[in-house]
Amino acid sequence: MITKQAIVDRLLNGRGAAGGETGEAFAPANIALCKYWGKRDETLNLPVTSSLSLSLGTLGSHCHLRRCDGPDRILLNDEPLPPAHPFVVRASAFLDLFRDPSGAGYAVAATNTIPTAAGFASSASGFASLVLALDQLHGWALTRREASILARLGSGSACRSLWQGLVEWHAGSAPDGMDSYAEPIASDWEALRIGLLVLEGGPKPISSRVAMRRTVATSSTYATWPATVAADMTTCKAAIAAKDFDRLGQAAESNALAMHATMMTAQPPVLYWKPASVAAMHQVWQARHEGIPLYFTMDAGPNLKLIFLASDEKAVCIHFPSLHVCIPHPA
Ligand code: DP6
Repeated sequence: MITKQAIVDRLLNGRGAAGGETGEAFAPANIALCKYWGKRDETLNLPVTSSLSLSLGTLGSHCHLRRCDGPDRILLNDEPLPPAHPFVVRASAFLDLFRDPSGAGYAVAATNTIPTAAGFASSASGFASLVLALDQLHGWALTRREASILARLGSGSACRSLWQGLVEWHAGSAPDGMDSYAEPIASDWEALRIGLLVLEGGPKPISSRVAMRRTVATSSTYATWPATVAADMTTCKAAIAAKDFDRLGQAAESNALAMHATMMTAQPPVLYWKPASVAAMHQVWQARHEGIPLYFTMDAGPNLKLIFLASDEKAVCIHFPSLHVCIPHPA
């Protein structure tokens, strides 16, 4: 088995001459249009399939970092967190990969700009901003591809949070995962919009990591998932190249539903949908029936993300007045 530490040591070998006192970075959150659902390597977060995402622009994570004496000190949205807090445990385990031989701690101040209590995952932007801040602090001079590989070791979807706009994560096939990284998709499609529809906050009944593992291990329909994603990736990329919005939206919505179908057929089943989620899906379909090109996607939670074009924002917001609209390519 290849360890995370082996990958980190190989990537950072001989680097770090020009570090500073602090490191500071922002990374945007991202929402997958073709989902990452299932790992071929649990340790290195290597995915079964490639995936494709859209960033949330100014919504994401800021990370400020410096060295400190003693154990790590972690602030989340200005609140000091106790050492046993799950966020601290996860962040410290990741920071262990990069510690100086002295074993000194890191003082981390993480701030999320994603609406709080909305139940939207911020681990992707959190790990991506942490890697960028570590790079500054240590002076590694990482390429974005290297930063993507390191962020993946924290959380798979974090490897897509190093860029704004449309991003593709190449699944890769190498056992060490050096060919499993993300990169931006060249596109000047500035009219794309993504909206967050907050239906319910609160903690998830089951984390995406656990649900993903259970799905791969037990779902009666998971065998069809890799081919579904491959076809959806091809469709999405062609739709992006042609700026064919309906084609993109259809493929993204269908991909999300297919992912949730694999969870529903797991044992025991995983269903993140709530009555409000289903009602919102019907509302999206009704709006579409009325002529508004509007599609949804959904991740490991009850909330929906809506995809539409800037020219339809007004009409979409009449149907969904509470929608938080994001510009994936902020100026
Ligand atoms: C449904 O990246 O959170 O959002 O690699 O175990 O940290 P780990 O999983 P994570 O899973 C994201 C799952 C998803 C789909 C996606 O973002 O592609």
